[in-house]
Amino acid sequence: MPGSHLFYRDPLHVVRAEGVYLYTADGRRYLDCYNNVQSMGHGNAVIADAICQQSRQLTTHTRYLNDVVVATAEKALATLPARFEVCVFTCTGTEACELAMRMARAVTGKSGAVVLEHSYHGNSRLVGEMSTMKYPAEQRPVHIQAIAPPDLDRGPLDAPAGAAGQAYADLLPPAIAELERAGPGFAAFVCDTIFDSNGALPVPADYLTAVQQHVHRANGLLIADEVQAGVCRTGTFWGFEHHGIAPDIVFTGKPFGGGYPVAAVFTTRDIAEQWAARDAYFNTFGGNPVAAAAAGAVLDYAKEHGICEHVTRVGSYLQSQLQALAARHAMIHRVQGRGLFQCVDIADPAAARSPAPHLAQAVVETMKEEGVLIGVTGRYDNCLKFRPPLIIDEAAVDFAVAALDRALASA
Ligand SMILES: Cc1ncc(COP(=O)(O)O)c(C=O)c1O
Repeated sequence: MPGSHLFYRDPLHVVRAEGVYLYTADGRRYLDCYNNVQSMGHGNAVIADAICQQSRQLTTHTRYLNDVVVATAEKALATLPARFEVCVFTCTGTEACELAMRMARAVTGKSGAVVLEHSYHGNSRLVGEMSTMKYPAEQRPVHIQAIAPPDLDRGPLDAPAGAAGQAYADLLPPAIAELERAGPGFAAFVCDTIFDSNGALPVPADYLTAVQQHVHRANGLLIADEVQAGVCRTGTFWGFEHHGIAPDIVFTGKPFGGGYPVAAVFTTRDIAEQWAARDAYFNTFGGNPVAAAAAGAVLDYAKEHGICEHVTRVGSYLQSQLQALAARHAMIHRVQGRGLFQCVDIADPAAARSPAPHLAQAVVETMKEEGVLIGVTGRYDNCLKFRPPLIIDEAAVDFAVAALDRALASA
């Protein structure tokens, strides 16, 4: 697997999983605080049964009428504002992002996108270009512009807190103007609504509404990337709900199939019709009946088990416990995030604002020895990422936080 790398200095050989735990070949149990795919729990029997049952009954592409596919699309659309009436299935978040851009390009007649600096949206040619964390700014193609995310702590603007959301949003019009001047023009602004690759940045409450105004004034579309934040991760079904915005297109992936590869793009009938008049889309595996059964089971499970409410409760407990650690460990610069996506920004205690990626990496390794799996994220690779399956409970949170306490003490 060239180009792919394993986690940890001494990689884990995981052979089995259940709920929030992974088990390795040598019989050790690890608390999974990193998973964002099997977010309704590893080995979830309801989802596994739905996949098996549909797999026995029928699996084909979406060229035939199929009740399961339609029922899942309707269940998913029911979680969105009423103006979302169209769902197109794909297999991956990358494909969904690519398709969202195809729609935006067809509707606007323009081809350029504005994204945030250090963003990640996937790995096809176009979506890779939109993933600005993956390559140097000098290599940015003419149809991609990136603006600084609203990092009030380490970002480039010196606006007072109350004006920062608008000040960072005001970086958008010059980026749009540059796309128009250079030729591609402006089709869309695309944004991950939990700002994962920027360390689950706590953005000002008015930031995305101010962005939305600029986007629509320039006749572009606002696209919400819900691959990380979607399906209850932040305590609401979709991450954009926290920001008071009305995106034109929403796409999701990872958690949507509970482990089965299925992703989707949602939009309005008007946008879908304008796009379909100019383009056609077929994806052999996208939204096949088994994929649809998996996503349908995830949607049912989330609703029946009150997963969003659970995430709000346990997520705020996790955040408060991490904040309590911050009061005792100087190397915690700040704790940020929403719901069950929390980041601990690790900084050099000798220079409080300087990110400390090496310390963060050392903590990740020690946490593994403690039996807890976390990761790092953020522009400086210094944010410890806690993103467990959404069914985690307070006792497991206590176990993880106690392990972190010891890992920080020994770092
Ligand atoms: C925010 C975000 N968008 C899109 C993607 C791409 O999803 P996939 O890996 O399924 O193509 C990812 C994957 O990590 C992601 O984190």
